[in-house]
Amino acid sequence: MTPSTPSPASTRLLEGRIALVTGAGGGIGRGIALRFAEEGAAVAVHCRTAVESAREVAERIRGRGGRATVLRADLTEEDACRRLVGEAAEWGGRLDALVNNAGVQPLRELPGMTATEWREVVDTNLTGVFACTQAAAAVMRAQDGGGTVTHIASIEAGAPAPAHAHYSASKAAVVMHARSAALEYGPWGVRVNSVSPGLVDREGLAEAWPEGVRRWRRAAPTGRLGRPEDVGDACVFLASRLASWVTGHDLVVDGGVTARPSW
Ligand SMILES: NC(=O)c1ccc[n+]([C@@H]2O[C@H](COP(=O)([O-])OP(=O)(O)OC[C@H]3O[C@@H](n4cnc5c(N)ncnc54)[C@H](OP(=O)(O)O)[C@@H]3O)[C@@H](O)[C@H]2O)c1
Repeated sequence: MTPSTPSPASTRLLEGRIALVTGAGGGIGRGIALRFAEEGAAVAVHCRTAVESAREVAERIRGRGGRATVLRADLTEEDACRRLVGEAAEWGGRLDALVNNAGVQPLRELPGMTATEWREVVDTNLTGVFACTQAAAAVMRAQDGGGTVTHIASIEAGAPAPAHAHYSASKAAVVMHARSAALEYGPWGVRVNSVSPGLVDREGLAEAWPEGVRRWRRAAPTGRLGRPEDVGDACVFLASRLASWVTGHDLVVDGGVTARPSW
């Protein structure tokens, strides 16, 4: 090999980094965790109830020669968020990247929505993100090289869907939290961004919601639904050196749907 030929390992974008991906037993989180591992990161795979699924993700990473562990926490509890971040940092010896992916998206129309139902969504999708980010930023500040935080928001942050007021409000707040956190944590060497996916495919979606999937395909200039890896790719980019001057940004990953005029 000549000196100008890089070794394959050196081309991986997250080689040697330690990452924590929340909700990584779920559809999109799994895609993010696997993409991070493919790019050389050791991954703390977080779950709440989907332990088997999280173990499977970790096994897959190890099976490909990577490093992974499974950590459990209910992110509606502030203490659990702090404990989770602490456990990930202890496992890895540091924490380079946090992806706040865990979230809930129940359907409920506003007239009948209770404050408890509202809080359930906001506590998970927003307050959990606040608490995990605060804990991670403190770890990242104390280490060489800082770190990155990426929130998984949604295109519903800007364009609400029926029966999703609590969800849309939580995601709009998450986008603004990322921008605010970019401002305040930037001097600590911590970049904070969000990724706003459109409709991402999962097993059984076309059968459960055929009309929605048809409408999406018609609306998307790219003609397809998203894949978990599409979101993973965006997160890899934001956590990598390629995005070293990108912070406070919301990266829309939606196959072009929001580019289409609605009038
Ligand atoms: N699917 C889409 O089309 C789409 C589009 C835009 C944005 N998003 C966003 O992408 C993220 C992932 O969504 P997904 O579609 O992959 O959903 P999913 O398969 O239901 O995964 C959601 C994950 O969040 C975790 N979670 C939920 N409540 C939690 C809590 N209180 N504490 C800890 N973890 C909790 C779940 O963990 P356990 O299962 O282990 O309990 C699960 O792994 C969400 O933030 C969602 O809003 C999704």
